[in-house]
Amino acid sequence: MCGIVGFTGHHQAAPILLEALSKLEYRGYDSAGVAVRDGEKPTEVVKATGKLINLSQKIDGGRTLHGCCGIGHTRWATHGEPSEVNAHPHVSGNCSGTGSGQVESEVVAVHNGIIENYQELSEKLQKNGYRFYSRTDSEVVVKLIDYYYRKYKMGPIDAINRTLVRVRGTYALCVMFKDYPDEIYVARKDAPIIVGTAEGESYVASDVPAILSYTRKVYYIDNLELARIAPGEVHFYDLNGDEVEKEPVDVPFSEEAARKDGFEHFMMKEIHEQPKVVRDTLHSVVKDGKIALEIPDDVLENIEQLYIVACGSAYHAGMVGQYVIEDLAGVPVRVELASEFRYRKMKLNKKALVVVISQSGETADTLAALRLAKEKGLPVAAIVNVVGSSIAREADYVFYTVAGPEIAVATTKAYSAQLISMYILAIKLALLNHSIDDAAPLLSELETLPSKIEEILKEKERIQWFAAKFAHIRDAFFLGRGIDYAASMEGSLKMKEISYIHSESYAAGEMKHGTISLIEDQTLVIGINTQKELFEKTLSNLVETRSRGAYIAAITQSGCYSIEDNVNFTVYIPRINELFSASLTVIPMQLLGYYMAVARGLDVDKPRNLAKSVTVE
Ligand code: G6P
Repeated sequence: MCGIVGFTGHHQAAPILLEALSKLEYRGYDSAGVAVRDGEKPTEVVKATGKLINLSQKIDGGRTLHGCCGIGHTRWATHGEPSEVNAHPHVSGNCSGTGSGQVESEVVAVHNGIIENYQELSEKLQKNGYRFYSRTDSEVVVKLIDYYYRKYKMGPIDAINRTLVRVRGTYALCVMFKDYPDEIYVARKDAPIIVGTAEGESYVASDVPAILSYTRKVYYIDNLELARIAPGEVHFYDLNGDEVEKEPVDVPFSEEAARKDGFEHFMMKEIHEQPKVVRDTLHSVVKDGKIALEIPDDVLENIEQLYIVACGSAYHAGMVGQYVIEDLAGVPVRVELASEFRYRKMKLNKKALVVVISQSGETADTLAALRLAKEKGLPVAAIVNVVGSSIAREADYVFYTVAGPEIAVATTKAYSAQLISMYILAIKLALLNHSIDDAAPLLSELETLPSKIEEILKEKERIQWFAAKFAHIRDAFFLGRGIDYAASMEGSLKMKEISYIHSESYAAGEMKHGTISLIEDQTLVIGINTQKELFEKTLSNLVETRSRGAYIAAITQSGCYSIEDNVNFTVYIPRINELFSASLTVIPMQLLGYYMAVARGLDVDKPRNLAKSVTVE
């Protein structure tokens, strides 16, 4: 949800801001803008609608803007449609037009998040003579900072603090003041932002990959904290304006990890990283045949119920986890969408553990669900990919997936790493419950996953051919039972989110209760069928759709060759313990979504209307 960057130092700011923004486009790409300062001269604000390239062309790659201090923004619209006038940065002056050009305003800022009470604040400001040019909540914040700055005349930290106390909502803010030409002020509440420093230069960004080519030394800003950034130095303050001490953290991955490495898209690169990610996540918690988790055994031993709470693909990983944990450990599991869980008035089992899953560690609904669970006195374990993220910091226990930075909006490798964390949790619970005596056979089976994923990837041309043949379709259905159903949810999401083909995943046995009426001649049905006990039943459901004209592509385990008599196209995955089959069946489904989108000429890494990190409700 929107990307923010800032720079102050001895180099020209605009090219650095553009490069950093290009690494954040996955957060939003409806419009973009920068504001650059050259000492005491007026701030230059330039904005453009559409992708970042439009902004870059407008300022000749940054060469037409002079100054060593600046802020930038790439937008995912919430309040106010995508347009130049609504694009950030926003300015405090009562200017006409789009708030661009040379501006004399006292305050210029970029914002990520949502200000819930912006209407009430806007009325207050209008009574005090402020006029608004845009329809954004962000312009209201900028003007409110200006109002307090002028009214109390106690400097930027005081003005921002007074503003933060008045606004309700979420924000990451990057603010420049006319009177402080080489400084940037940063504040956050429930929206990510980090600060980095290097020799005489300082950087701000929504996410680490944006500034990795400049520095690996970063500071994480806590909720309701502020930072004052000058060239090469940074100071932190609390809401009272008192200085807070903070140590920088060395980022554990390099800039190369955030590059495409010769792949056409990040998504394809990340699909190919899955063998490594699976291995790394496994080895991060399994050492010498023993599972070592941060969650203490006594927390896991006594639970009667597990609530898994997440959004999007992380929720789908939880769905797979539900089947595996219930089967292996016999612990009842409920998987909840975070956006529903947080408003449901359900009675929670007091002897439960809440497990939240999140790649970014910043998803607003998941974070809110975590806080709700803690408020109700339940222990919360988080499965998170981004180190130091809000969810990781607020959970009682963390299980980090080791997927590295994921750039493509549609997740692949983080989902695969989340599956591993689900299996490990299941095995650990099963050991503690004495449902199994020995984890070794299951752990050795997990060790085979990376090479089996590689085998599937070697066959990708076959999926590419199939995708090209079906790229024109309007609808697709993904069917399966049990773990295959859970895996099909992710397969269906991959297809719809990047190829814009309507697709649904359905429990195969439920099709006939309504949805089968949508099957027409040549409707594409992807049947996932890897579970021995359910094989015949799922096959019958697939045949039911075939008799109504569907074209069936099946994904099954190698050796189940009889399926070919009943379906039109088959993909075999290497044999694997059925509990872990989702880790293999998802690979051809990811490839199918990817190749369908490529065949339709779409922007695979930045699908329309989506953002990778959803920090608004
Ligand atoms: C967005 C992303 C999805 C992701 C979901 C949850 O919708 O596009 O890929 O699964 O958010 O994100 P999280 O970071 O919490 O896993």
